[in-house]
Amino acid sequence: MAKFNLRSLLLAAASGSVPAAGQLNSLAKAAGLLYFGTAVDNPSLTNTAYTAVAFNLSEFGQITPANGQKWDSIEPSNGVYSYTQGDAVTSKAQSAGQILRCHNLVWYNQLPSWVSSGSWTTTTLESVLTSHITNEVLHYKGQCYAWDVVNEALSDTGTYRADVFYNILGTGYIPFAFKAAAAADPAAKLYYNDYNIEYAGAKLTAAVSIVKNIQSSGGRIDGVGLQGHFIVGSTPSKASLVAALQTFTALGVEVAYTELDVRHSSVPASAAAQQQQAADYVTVVSACLAVAKCVGVTVWDFDDQYSWVPSTFSGSGEADLWSSNLVKKPAYTSIASFLKSAATAPVAVPTVVTTTPVITTAPATTAAGSNSHYAQCGGIGFTGAAGCASPYTCSTLNSYYAQCL
Ligand code: G3I
Repeated sequence: MAKFNLRSLLLAAASGSVPAAGQLNSLAKAAGLLYFGTAVDNPSLTNTAYTAVAFNLSEFGQITPANGQKWDSIEPSNGVYSYTQGDAVTSKAQSAGQILRCHNLVWYNQLPSWVSSGSWTTTTLESVLTSHITNEVLHYKGQCYAWDVVNEALSDTGTYRADVFYNILGTGYIPFAFKAAAAADPAAKLYYNDYNIEYAGAKLTAAVSIVKNIQSSGGRIDGVGLQGHFIVGSTPSKASLVAALQTFTALGVEVAYTELDVRHSSVPASAAAQQQQAADYVTVVSACLAVAKCVGVTVWDFDDQYSWVPSTFSGSGEADLWSSNLVKKPAYTSIASFLKSAATAPVAVPTVVTTTPVITTAPATTAAGSNSHYAQCGGIGFTGAAGCASPYTCSTLNSYYAQCL
C-alpha cells in the first residue's frame, strides 16, 4: 500500500482554497502545513484585544499553553493536582476549534521543589514520574494533538542536564517517560522538545541519540520540537535549518518549530532591523515548508507585551510578530506573503515509499457531501462532509485529522 506524507495530503485537501485574507493559519494550511500556532499564557487571557487575535482560527490554528501545563502548575504538591491554569487556555482553544500542543510533562525548570529537592530512590522517583505523567495525560486525553513529553534534557554543550531525573534514573528516564505517556494516551503524538538543535552541532547530535534511545528501548516517539528562539541577523540559513529537520525526519519522526521568536539584540529596533527580522522569520517558515514532515510553526508568543525575552535577555526584545500595542510588524506581513506565494505555487510533492506512482496533481473538486481522495473527512472540530468518494474510506490519522484514503 502506498504511504503519502501528511504534507501532500494537506496540500491536496487545501488545493484551490488559498484565502484572500492574510491570516497566518489559513495561509499556512493552504501552503500544506497542519497549522500555524502560538503560545498563550494565562495573564493574557484578560486582555480581550489579545484574545481576539489568539483565538482567531484563521490566524492561529494551534495553541500551546505557555505555563499552565507545567509540573509546578499541575502538581504543586505530591499527589495534589490542579488543572485550573492549563484548562483556562485549553478550553478557549477548543472552543475556537484550535489544535493543542500540550507542554510539557518532564522538565528540570518550573519543577516544584518537592520533586527537584526530594530524596529519591530509583523506585520512588519512577513512581512519581508515572503518577504525574499518567494523571496529566489522562486529564487531557483526546485533546492534545501532541505532548512535549520531555523538554530540554540537554545542556548547551549537548551533555545531559544533571537534573533530578538524570541524577537518579540516568538516561533511561526519557524512554521511561515516553512509555508512560504512550500508555495514557495512545493517540497523542509524543515529542522531544529542545532549543539549539535547529542547526548542526553537539546538541543536535545528542538529540538524535535521544530519539534513537527511545526507539531502541521499544518506546514510541512521534516527533521532535525544535524551539526556534533566534536572534535577528543570526538566524541560521534555510539550508542549515532544513538539514537539521531532515536529520530528525530520517529517523521516522515528524518535526515542528514549537517556540519560534526572533529577538532584537537591542531595542527599539530600527526599520532596517525589522526588515531583517522579517527575513529571518521567513527563513524559518520556509525551512519548515521545505520538509514534508514538518507539520507546523508555533510562535512564542505573538505579542511583544507577553514575550519572555526581555526578562531573560536584558536589553533584547521585540521578538514577536505583533508589537506590544498589538500592531502587526513587517515580519507578519512577510510571513503572510511568503505563505500565500507558497500556497499558490506549492513546491512539496508526495513522498512515496512503495513503487506506486507519485501523485503530483491536485485531486478533482470535491463533490458536495462526498469527499474525493485525499480530502479531509473527519477529526475534532471538522464540520465538513464525512463521506468519501468510492473506493476510498475515511481513515483516522489522529483525533484532529482524517482523510479519504
Ligand atoms: O507563577 C509565578 C508567580 O506565582 C509569581 O508571582 C511570579 C513572579 O515573578 O512568577 C510566576 O512564575 C513565572 C512563570 O513564568 C509563570 O508566569 C516565572 O517567574 C517566570 O520565570 C516564568 O517564565 C516562563 C519561562 O518559560 C520559565 O522558564 C515563561 O513565561 C515561559 O514563556 C517560558 O517558556 C519556555 C518554554 O516553556 C520552554 N522553552 C523556553 C521557553 C522560554 O523560556
